[in-house]
Amino acid sequence: MPLVTSKEMFSKAYAGNYAVGAFNVNNMEIIQGIVDAAKEEQAPLILQVSAGARKYAKHVYLMKLVEAAIEDSGLPICLHLDHGEDFEICKACIDGGFTSVMIDGSKYSFEENIALTRQVVEYAHPRGVVVEAELGRLAGVEDAVKVNTKEATYTDPKEAVEFVERTGVDSLAIAIGTSHGAYKFKGEPSLDMERLETITKLLPGFPLVLHGASTVLPEFVDKCNQYGGQIAGAKGVPEEMLFAAGKLGVCKINIDTDLRLAMTASIREYLASNPADFDPRQYLRPARDAIKNMVKHKINAVLNCSGKL
Ligand code: G3H
Ligand code: 13P
Ligand code: ZN
Repeated sequence: MPLVTSKEMFSKAYAGNYAVGAFNVNNMEIIQGIVDAAKEEQAPLILQVSAGARKYAKHVYLMKLVEAAIEDSGLPICLHLDHGEDFEICKACIDGGFTSVMIDGSKYSFEENIALTRQVVEYAHPRGVVVEAELGRLAGVEDAVKVNTKEATYTDPKEAVEFVERTGVDSLAIAIGTSHGAYKFKGEPSLDMERLETITKLLPGFPLVLHGASTVLPEFVDKCNQYGGQIAGAKGVPEEMLFAAGKLGVCKINIDTDLRLAMTASIREYLASNPADFDPRQYLRPARDAIKNMVKHKINAVLNCSGKL
Protein backbone atom coordinates (compact mmCIF):
# COMPACT_ATOMS: atom_id res chain seq x y z
CA MET A 1 0.00 0.00 0.00
CA PRO A 2 1.54 3.36 -1.02
CA LEU A 3 1.15 6.66 0.85
CA VAL A 4 -2.19 8.33 0.11
CA THR A 5 -3.31 11.96 -0.04
CA SER A 6 -5.96 13.29 2.32
CA LYS A 7 -8.49 13.89 -0.49
CA GLU A 8 -10.63 10.83 0.03
CA MET A 9 -10.16 10.93 3.81
CA PHE A 10 -11.54 14.47 3.88
CA SER A 11 -14.52 13.84 1.61
CA LYS A 12 -15.53 10.86 3.80
CA ALA A 13 -14.93 12.85 6.99
CA TYR A 14 -16.97 15.79 5.71
CA ALA A 15 -19.89 13.57 4.75
CA GLY A 16 -19.62 11.52 7.96
CA ASN A 17 -19.36 14.51 10.33
CA TYR A 18 -16.05 13.50 11.86
CA ALA A 19 -12.41 14.63 11.64
CA VAL A 20 -9.12 12.92 10.82
CA GLY A 21 -6.29 13.24 13.34
CA ALA A 22 -3.03 14.77 12.16
CA PHE A 23 -0.36 13.80 14.66
CA ASN A 24 3.18 15.21 14.69
CA VAL A 25 6.00 12.67 14.40
CA ASN A 26 9.70 12.97 15.26
CA ASN A 27 11.03 9.43 15.80
CA MET A 28 10.28 5.72 15.56
CA GLU A 29 8.51 5.29 18.91
CA ILE A 30 6.11 8.16 18.22
CA ILE A 31 5.27 6.78 14.76
CA GLN A 32 4.76 3.25 16.11
CA GLY A 33 2.53 4.41 18.99
CA ILE A 34 0.30 6.48 16.69
CA VAL A 35 0.05 3.86 13.96
CA ASP A 36 -0.73 1.05 16.43
CA ALA A 37 -3.58 3.13 17.84
CA ALA A 38 -5.00 3.93 14.39
CA LYS A 39 -4.80 0.27 13.43
CA GLU A 40 -6.60 -0.91 16.56
CA GLU A 41 -9.26 1.76 16.06
CA GLN A 42 -9.40 1.25 12.26
CA ALA A 43 -9.13 5.02 11.93
CA PRO A 44 -7.92 7.16 9.01
CA LEU A 45 -4.55 8.77 9.75
CA ILE A 46 -2.35 11.72 8.82
CA LEU A 47 1.24 11.79 10.08
CA GLN A 48 2.78 15.23 9.95
CA VAL A 49 6.35 16.43 10.01
CA SER A 50 7.41 19.94 10.98
CA ALA A 51 10.57 21.65 9.71
CA GLY A 52 12.00 21.02 13.18
CA ALA A 53 11.19 17.30 13.02
CA ARG A 54 12.75 17.10 9.55
CA LYS A 55 15.89 18.74 10.85
CA TYR A 56 15.99 16.53 13.96
CA ALA A 57 15.41 13.13 12.34
CA LYS A 58 16.27 13.88 8.66
CA HIS A 59 13.76 13.65 5.82
CA VAL A 60 14.95 10.24 4.64
CA TYR A 61 14.65 8.60 8.07
CA LEU A 62 11.10 9.86 8.60
CA MET A 63 10.12 8.84 5.07
CA LYS A 64 11.49 5.31 5.54
CA LEU A 65 9.91 4.97 9.00
CA VAL A 66 6.51 5.95 7.62
CA GLU A 67 6.95 3.55 4.69
CA ALA A 68 7.79 0.83 7.22
CA ALA A 69 4.67 1.72 9.23
CA ILE A 70 2.52 1.34 6.11
CA GLU A 71 4.10 -2.01 5.25
CA ASP A 72 3.77 -3.26 8.82
CA SER A 73 0.22 -2.02 9.50
CA GLY A 74 -1.37 -2.18 6.05
CA LEU A 75 -2.99 1.19 6.78
CA PRO A 76 -3.38 3.93 4.17
CA ILE A 77 -1.40 6.86 5.62
CA CYS A 78 -1.09 10.45 4.43
CA LEU A 79 2.34 12.05 5.04
CA HIS A 80 2.06 15.80 5.47
CA LEU A 81 4.47 18.72 5.88
CA ASP A 82 3.33 20.80 8.87
CA HIS A 83 3.78 24.61 8.72
CA GLY A 84 5.92 24.83 5.57
CA GLU A 85 7.22 28.39 5.74
CA ASP A 86 8.32 28.87 2.14
CA PHE A 87 8.07 27.42 -1.36
CA GLU A 88 11.46 25.66 -1.05
CA ILE A 89 10.55 23.41 1.88
CA CYS A 90 7.22 22.52 0.23
CA LYS A 91 9.04 21.64 -3.01
CA ALA A 92 11.60 19.53 -1.12
CA CYS A 93 8.81 17.55 0.57
CA ILE A 94 6.81 17.14 -2.65
CA ASP A 95 9.94 15.98 -4.52
CA GLY A 96 10.84 13.80 -1.52
CA GLY A 97 7.62 11.76 -1.53
CA PHE A 98 5.20 13.53 0.85
CA THR A 99 1.57 13.35 -0.29
CA SER A 100 0.44 16.59 1.36
CA VAL A 101 2.07 19.90 2.27
CA MET A 102 1.06 22.94 4.27
CA ILE A 103 2.22 26.34 3.10
CA ASP A 104 1.80 28.63 6.08
CA GLY A 105 1.59 32.17 4.74
CA SER A 106 -0.55 33.35 7.66
CA LYS A 107 2.06 35.87 8.77
CA TYR A 108 1.95 37.65 5.40
CA SER A 109 -0.59 40.07 3.98
CA PHE A 110 -3.72 38.60 2.37
CA GLU A 111 -2.34 39.18 -1.16
CA GLU A 112 1.13 37.81 -0.33
CA ASN A 113 -0.41 34.74 1.31
CA ILE A 114 -2.52 34.13 -1.82
CA ALA A 115 0.48 34.50 -4.16
CA LEU A 116 2.67 32.13 -2.10
CA THR A 117 -0.10 29.55 -1.67
CA ARG A 118 -0.92 29.69 -5.40
CA GLN A 119 2.75 29.05 -6.24
CA VAL A 120 2.80 25.92 -4.06
CA VAL A 121 -0.55 24.68 -5.43
CA GLU A 122 0.75 25.07 -9.00
CA TYR A 123 3.78 22.94 -8.16
CA ALA A 124 1.96 20.36 -6.02
CA HIS A 125 -1.18 19.55 -8.01
CA PRO A 126 0.43 18.29 -11.24
CA ARG A 127 2.52 16.01 -9.01
CA GLY A 128 -0.51 14.54 -7.23
CA VAL A 129 0.14 16.30 -3.92
CA VAL A 130 -2.51 18.21 -1.95
CA VAL A 131 -2.00 21.56 -0.25
CA GLU A 132 -3.21 23.06 3.04
CA ALA A 133 -2.92 26.80 3.66
CA GLU A 134 -3.70 29.03 6.64
CA LEU A 135 -5.67 32.24 6.91
CA GLY A 136 -5.95 34.15 10.17
CA ARG A 137 -3.57 34.10 13.14
CA LEU A 138 -3.77 31.62 15.98
CA ALA A 139 -3.84 33.53 19.25
CA GLY A 140 -0.51 33.93 21.01
CA VAL A 141 -0.11 32.81 24.60
CA GLU A 142 -0.66 36.22 26.10
CA ASP A 143 -3.57 37.23 23.89
CA ALA A 144 -6.73 38.06 25.71
CA VAL A 145 -9.46 36.78 23.41
CA LYS A 146 -11.57 39.90 23.34
CA VAL A 147 -13.92 40.87 20.54
CA ASN A 148 -11.50 43.34 18.98
CA THR A 149 -8.67 40.77 19.16
CA LYS A 150 -10.92 38.24 17.42
CA GLU A 151 -11.68 40.65 14.59
CA ALA A 152 -7.98 41.35 14.11
CA THR A 153 -6.72 37.77 14.21
CA TYR A 154 -9.52 35.25 13.66
CA THR A 155 -10.29 34.15 10.11
CA ASP A 156 -12.60 36.46 8.24
CA PRO A 157 -15.30 34.30 6.57
CA LYS A 158 -15.53 36.37 3.37
CA GLU A 159 -11.75 36.44 3.00
CA ALA A 160 -11.72 32.65 3.43
CA VAL A 161 -14.02 32.25 0.40
CA GLU A 162 -11.92 34.56 -1.76
CA PHE A 163 -8.72 32.86 -0.57
CA VAL A 164 -9.95 29.37 -1.48
CA GLU A 165 -11.26 30.50 -4.88
CA ARG A 166 -8.09 32.35 -5.85
CA THR A 167 -5.55 29.77 -4.62
CA GLY A 168 -7.20 26.45 -5.54
CA VAL A 169 -6.00 25.12 -2.19
CA ASP A 170 -7.34 21.73 -0.97
CA SER A 171 -7.91 22.58 2.70
CA LEU A 172 -7.69 25.65 4.89
CA ALA A 173 -6.52 26.10 8.48
CA ILE A 174 -8.62 28.71 10.23
CA ALA A 175 -8.20 30.68 13.45
CA ILE A 176 -11.27 30.40 15.68
CA GLY A 177 -9.80 30.11 19.17
CA THR A 178 -7.18 27.37 19.30
CA SER A 179 -3.54 28.07 20.06
CA HIS A 180 -0.28 26.10 19.79
CA GLY A 181 1.68 24.62 22.67
CA ALA A 182 1.16 23.73 26.32
CA TYR A 183 0.69 27.22 27.61
CA LYS A 184 -2.44 28.38 25.83
CA PHE A 185 -4.55 31.31 27.05
CA LYS A 186 -4.86 33.30 30.21
CA GLY A 187 -8.65 33.15 30.09
CA GLU A 188 -11.20 30.38 29.44
CA PRO A 189 -10.38 28.86 26.07
CA SER A 190 -13.28 28.35 23.69
CA LEU A 191 -14.05 28.07 20.00
CA ASP A 192 -15.93 30.69 18.04
CA MET A 193 -18.54 28.22 16.75
CA GLU A 194 -20.61 30.95 15.11
CA ARG A 195 -17.65 31.97 12.97
CA LEU A 196 -17.01 28.31 12.11
CA GLU A 197 -20.63 27.84 11.04
CA THR A 198 -20.48 30.96 8.88
CA ILE A 199 -17.29 29.79 7.15
CA THR A 200 -18.75 26.30 6.62
CA LYS A 201 -21.94 27.73 5.10
CA LEU A 202 -19.94 29.94 2.72
CA LEU A 203 -17.65 27.05 1.71
CA PRO A 204 -19.95 24.01 1.59
CA GLY A 205 -18.10 20.70 1.24
CA PHE A 206 -14.69 22.33 1.72
CA PRO A 207 -12.39 20.78 4.38
CA LEU A 208 -11.31 23.06 7.23
CA VAL A 209 -8.37 22.43 9.57
CA LEU A 210 -7.76 23.24 13.23
CA HIS A 211 -4.21 23.73 14.46
CA GLY A 212 -3.24 24.06 18.11
CA ALA A 213 -5.92 21.54 19.05
CA SER A 214 -4.26 19.88 22.05
CA THR A 215 -6.33 20.29 25.18
CA VAL A 216 -3.28 20.10 27.52
CA LEU A 217 -4.93 17.45 29.66
CA PRO A 218 -4.12 18.41 33.28
CA GLU A 219 -3.55 14.80 34.34
CA PHE A 220 -0.44 14.65 32.12
CA VAL A 221 0.94 18.06 33.10
CA ASP A 222 0.47 17.08 36.76
CA LYS A 223 2.20 13.75 36.23
CA CYS A 224 5.19 15.44 34.57
CA ASN A 225 5.41 17.87 37.48
CA GLN A 226 4.92 15.15 40.10
CA TYR A 227 8.12 13.52 38.84
CA GLY A 228 10.31 16.61 38.74
CA GLY A 229 8.92 18.52 35.75
CA GLN A 230 8.27 22.24 35.85
CA ILE A 231 5.72 22.59 33.09
CA ALA A 232 3.51 25.65 33.25
CA GLY A 233 0.65 24.11 31.33
CA ALA A 234 -2.63 25.91 30.90
CA LYS A 235 -5.99 24.73 29.63
CA GLY A 236 -6.55 24.30 25.91
CA VAL A 237 -9.92 24.16 24.17
CA PRO A 238 -12.11 21.48 25.83
CA GLU A 239 -12.31 18.21 23.92
CA GLU A 240 -16.12 18.37 23.58
CA MET A 241 -15.81 21.65 21.65
CA LEU A 242 -13.30 20.14 19.25
CA PHE A 243 -15.62 17.14 18.85
CA ALA A 244 -18.43 19.53 17.90
CA ALA A 245 -16.19 21.27 15.34
CA GLY A 246 -15.75 17.93 13.57
CA LYS A 247 -19.46 18.01 12.77
CA LEU A 248 -19.17 21.48 11.20
CA GLY A 249 -16.76 21.04 8.31
CA VAL A 250 -13.52 20.61 10.29
CA CYS A 251 -11.92 17.55 8.67
CA LYS A 252 -8.38 17.70 10.11
CA ILE A 253 -7.42 18.29 13.73
CA ASN A 254 -3.73 18.74 14.63
CA ILE A 255 -2.38 17.28 17.85
CA ASP A 256 1.21 17.42 19.04
CA THR A 257 1.43 18.89 22.56
CA ASP A 258 -0.82 16.26 24.20
CA LEU A 259 1.41 13.52 22.73
CA ARG A 260 4.55 15.24 24.00
CA LEU A 261 3.06 15.53 27.49
CA ALA A 262 1.94 11.88 27.54
CA MET A 263 5.37 10.68 26.40
CA THR A 264 7.31 12.89 28.80
CA ALA A 265 5.07 12.00 31.77
CA SER A 266 5.67 8.32 31.08
CA ILE A 267 9.45 8.67 30.81
CA ARG A 268 9.65 10.83 33.94
CA GLU A 269 7.56 8.35 35.90
CA TYR A 270 9.58 5.36 34.71
CA LEU A 271 12.98 6.89 35.49
CA ALA A 272 11.84 8.20 38.87
CA SER A 273 10.56 4.74 39.79
CA ASN A 274 13.52 2.85 38.29
CA PRO A 275 16.54 5.06 39.01
CA ALA A 276 19.07 2.31 38.36
CA ASP A 277 17.77 1.58 34.86
CA PHE A 278 19.62 2.95 31.85
CA ASP A 279 18.35 0.79 28.99
CA PRO A 280 16.44 3.16 26.68
CA ARG A 281 14.09 0.36 25.64
CA GLN A 282 12.82 0.09 29.20
CA TYR A 283 11.55 3.67 29.29
CA LEU A 284 10.73 4.07 25.59
CA ARG A 285 8.42 1.03 25.58
CA PRO A 286 5.96 2.52 28.10
CA ALA A 287 6.42 5.92 26.44
CA ARG A 288 5.34 4.41 23.11
CA ASP A 289 2.33 2.85 24.87
CA ALA A 290 1.49 6.27 26.37
CA ILE A 291 1.45 7.76 22.86
CA LYS A 292 -0.78 4.94 21.67
CA ASN A 293 -3.24 5.41 24.54
CA MET A 294 -3.40 9.17 23.96
CA VAL A 295 -4.09 8.69 20.24
CA LYS A 296 -6.83 6.15 20.99
CA HIS A 297 -8.32 8.63 23.43
CA LYS A 298 -8.26 11.44 20.82
CA ILE A 299 -9.78 9.19 18.15
CA ASN A 300 -12.79 8.66 20.41
CA ALA A 301 -13.07 11.87 22.45
CA VAL A 302 -12.15 14.44 19.79
CA LEU A 303 -12.08 13.01 16.27
CA ASN A 304 -14.99 10.57 16.29
CA CYS A 305 -13.20 8.61 13.54
CA SER A 306 -13.00 5.12 15.08
CA GLY A 307 -14.00 2.47 12.51
CA LYS A 308 -13.99 5.06 9.69
CA LEU A 309 -11.15 3.57 7.66
O1 G3H B 1 2.68 23.42 15.42
C1 G3H B 1 3.81 22.96 15.56
C2 G3H B 1 4.03 21.57 15.97
O2 G3H B 1 3.66 21.35 17.30
C3 G3H B 1 5.46 21.17 15.69
O3 G3H B 1 6.34 21.74 16.61
O4 G3H B 1 8.11 22.88 15.28
O5 G3H B 1 8.55 22.06 17.62
O6 G3H B 1 8.30 20.43 15.73
P1 G3H B 1 7.92 21.79 16.28
P1 13P C 1 -0.80 21.60 19.63
O1 13P C 1 0.45 22.34 20.04
O2 13P C 1 -2.02 22.18 20.28
O3 13P C 1 -0.69 20.13 19.81
O4 13P C 1 -0.97 21.86 18.04
C1 13P C 1 -0.24 21.11 17.11
C2 13P C 1 -0.31 21.71 15.74
O5 13P C 1 -1.13 22.54 15.41
C3 13P C 1 0.69 21.24 14.76
O6 13P C 1 0.61 21.96 13.56
ZN1 ZN D 1 0.04 23.99 13.82
